Amino acid sequence: MNAERKPRRGDLFELTLERFDERGDALGRAGEYAIELARAIPGERVRAEVRWRRRNRLGARVAERLEPSPHAVEPRCAHFGSCGGCSFQSLAYAAQLEGLHGLVERAFRAQGFGAELEITPVEGARELYGYRNRMEFTFSNRRWIARDEPPGAEAGFALGLHAPGLHSKVIDVAACPIQPAAVDRILATLRSAARARGLEPWDQRTHTGLLRHALLRSSRASGEILVDLVTSRDAPGEVEPYAQAVLALHPEITTFVQNVNTRHGQTAQGERERVLHGPGFIVERLLGLSFAVSANSFFQTNSAQAERLFGLVRELAGTRGDERVFDLYCGTGTIALVLAAQAREVVGFELAPSAVADARANAARNSIGNARFVEGDVLAALGREPGEPDVCVVDPPRAGLHPRLLPVLGALAPRRIVYVSCNPVSGARDARALAGFGYRVRQVRPIDLFPHTPHVESVFALERAP
Ligand SMILES: C[S@@+](CC[C@H](N)C(=O)[O-])C[C@H]1O[C@@H](n2cnc3c(N)ncnc32)[C@H](O)[C@@H]1O
Repeated sequence: MNAERKPRRGDLFELTLERFDERGDALGRAGEYAIELARAIPGERVRAEVRWRRRNRLGARVAERLEPSPHAVEPRCAHFGSCGGCSFQSLAYAAQLEGLHGLVERAFRAQGFGAELEITPVEGARELYGYRNRMEFTFSNRRWIARDEPPGAEAGFALGLHAPGLHSKVIDVAACPIQPAAVDRILATLRSAARARGLEPWDQRTHTGLLRHALLRSSRASGEILVDLVTSRDAPGEVEPYAQAVLALHPEITTFVQNVNTRHGQTAQGERERVLHGPGFIVERLLGLSFAVSANSFFQTNSAQAERLFGLVRELAGTRGDERVFDLYCGTGTIALVLAAQAREVVGFELAPSAVADARANAARNSIGNARFVEGDVLAALGREPGEPDVCVVDPPRAGLHPRLLPVLGALAPRRIVYVSCNPVSGARDARALAGFGYRVRQVRPIDLFPHTPHVESVFALERAP
């Protein structure tokens, strides 16, 4: 390329990729330009073709792979490359953890936190495959066709995952190695039994067809498996024999439910649910507590790492038994219930009514009498709650804490705030803002709940200065 002019679409650069960003794109440099591109890993040398330029940033695609990364490993999944789900399967796990650590480190340093803030190495998962306890697959009459398939390959039925950036096509997933193998076998039967019975998959353009999604959940502790079949209408005459055919081959399915979604939007959450077999939920155990998980409950998707995450929260909360604890954005109350044994009282605050109902049921299931759950927007609900907490846990969605919550927290003045962050950028921003209310953070503890993806959780305690 001519060094005089600015890069433009179609220009080629040779570069070695250095790291990845929070979306999973690989980043490198060419002179004064930062280049980002998908489907590449740190350490790899590529020829990149420019697609766009914004000031000194270039977006590119891999035109040619020149040298493999020293951190490259063989991906286990047959759909790697076409399915966008676990983009780092080809990157050695140690390099994944280093990259995740870099994301957390950069987010906090960008907020002005210096060397006095320790960011511990990312606590890696012990199970890199088979760890996901919830997968949602889509039925479609438009199967995504791989380049190497023979012409005329049948494309009218698929049960799998959307091809990245291609929402009209679905990859027919034979096996998904991040879920347990037992669930893979059920996925295969759901497909073959539907085809054998001539059940029609959903057509996203004409909004016709019966089968829309199959949501599969499993419990690591009990081995129970839940199948949630999402259909476009009730159709009991078709759905019930189909469910019975699948159940006959898989006695390990402990619950089979049907959710009916008559709307056009592609969501697995139905307007009504019918239990076709079993109690309608499975039971998972974490840190000695048991949790009922139904088709539409929120539950952490990696049980083994969730247990370690909640253990970390308990350690950082450091309660002894006489404290009042608030759990803000409490979901189904898992953290609140874990902390209840070492607190005088725990109060959870949550917007979603179904999550609050689950939280209350889970408290009763574990005979926990000192936990209460308040439904509503956290700001409004906190305003109605009398008294102050000694310790506050916050686990907000990716956007982080609502800006108006920061002064409210400052006024409540708990002596410690334990922050569980699923987005280091918003977590670091909130830690900086809370410093303005007298809170200090000394250590950030990242933990990986989603191996092979760019997502990372971080937990940190903010102490109120005396
Ligand atoms: C990251 S999840 C928390 C998960 C929870 N700690 C658990 O492990 O089950 C964030 C939760 O915040 C809730 N939420 C989002 N906005 C909220 C708001 N304005 N007020 C209260 N809860 C909210 C969501 O419904 C969701 O359950």
